[in-house]
Amino acid sequence: MSNFVVSARKYRPQTFDTVVGQSSITTTLKNAIKNDHLAQAFLFFGSRGVGKTTTARILAKTINCMNLDDSIEPCNSCESCTSFNEGHSFNILELDGASNNSVEDIRNLIDQVRMAPQVGQYKIFIIDEVHMLSLSAFNAFLKTLEEPPKHAIFILATTEKHKILPTILSRCQIFDFHRIKIDDIVNHLMKIAAEEKIKADPKALHVIANKADGALRDALSIFDQIVSFSNNEVTYQSVLDNLNVLDYDYYFKIVDIARNENIAEALLLYNTILTKGFDGSQFLVGLSEHLRNLLVCKDQATVELLEVPAEIKEQYIQQSSHSSQEFILLALDLLRDTEIHYKASKNKRLSIEITLMKLCSIPSTLKSKAVS
Ligand SMILES: Nc1ncnc2c1ncn2[C@@H]1O[C@H](COP(=O)(O)OP(=O)(O)O)[C@@H](O)[C@H]1O
Ligand SMILES: [Mg+2]
Ligand SMILES: [Zn+2]
Repeated sequence: MSNFVVSARKYRPQTFDTVVGQSSITTTLKNAIKNDHLAQAFLFFGSRGVGKTTTARILAKTINCMNLDDSIEPCNSCESCTSFNEGHSFNILELDGASNNSVEDIRNLIDQVRMAPQVGQYKIFIIDEVHMLSLSAFNAFLKTLEEPPKHAIFILATTEKHKILPTILSRCQIFDFHRIKIDDIVNHLMKIAAEEKIKADPKALHVIANKADGALRDALSIFDQIVSFSNNEVTYQSVLDNLNVLDYDYYFKIVDIARNENIAEALLLYNTILTKGFDGSQFLVGLSEHLRNLLVCKDQATVELLEVPAEIKEQYIQQSSHSSQEFILLALDLLRDTEIHYKASKNKRLSIEITLMKLCSIPSTLKSKAVS
């Protein structure tokens, strides 16, 4: 294990084009460099693990790259690029706001800002987690940001834009980094698996991507964890076991059972789920998500909102075509009510069992409505 490098570090993109799922941002940045329309201050904002720091570093390197050509990508081999990659660049400086948040730290930075670069045109300052700066540090920084010397460029990154003073925001060009789409995460993991000669089931990668909730870094960490646990093979079952995720099959079954109004089977299936060690709130969330998936299948236009592995898409479309919209909506209402009261309920098992019984009664409620 001595030379094991975690995937999130090993596969940190080194060029704009390899950043996943943020192409509108990378294109805009490239065009700005190409047309010499660079802002002096950028703010990269978005949730964790979506590529803010990565993109900040690529942008900084590209601006200073000595071999810049029409591709507008850092060459990663010139003196400027390599000195940064090796961590001893004088022209690209990184400050982690989380650990260097005092006025002293910012004063040091401001001293650096004043000095013109010895080689090259720009000195670039990446301030990560900028929302962590203390108020006085912020204020000290503001003066510099108001009148920066021509050679200074600032790239600020944060997960919490609302904590940044409006006066700072107004001086930055703001880029909103999106959560990464499940399919994009799956494709990225597939490439890494191929590179690492790891056998990976796309269905398993889908579950990982889902769990990562839009954060590519999290997806990579989960992937590593499962690889180390399961001997270089990522199977659907190993992912379910590891992440304690309930197989899609259970939800398909519950809906079938409810449509057939079979209360006994519903209770027995829920018992099986509990004995496998899953908890009720997980089940509620999963079942709601399942019903939401059935709902988006109701209309051709919204099927694309279905974020599930390709091989079970058809299964969703099938089950959706057998379930009426009224059934799905009532079921979702019911689950939402249960979720609201679930935390406070004294007998959690019973509360879900009642919900399942009501779920099984929806078809007859609908039938009697149609008759009357
Ligand atoms: N958009 C992305 N494209 C490719 N890899 C990414 C992306 N976002 C995150 N990663 C992976 O996660 C790691 C951490 O990303 P980072 O840029 O530090 O995220 P952030 O700064 O938004 O929290 C990177 O080294 C890379 O492996
Ligand atoms: Mg970061
Ligand atoms: Zn270079």
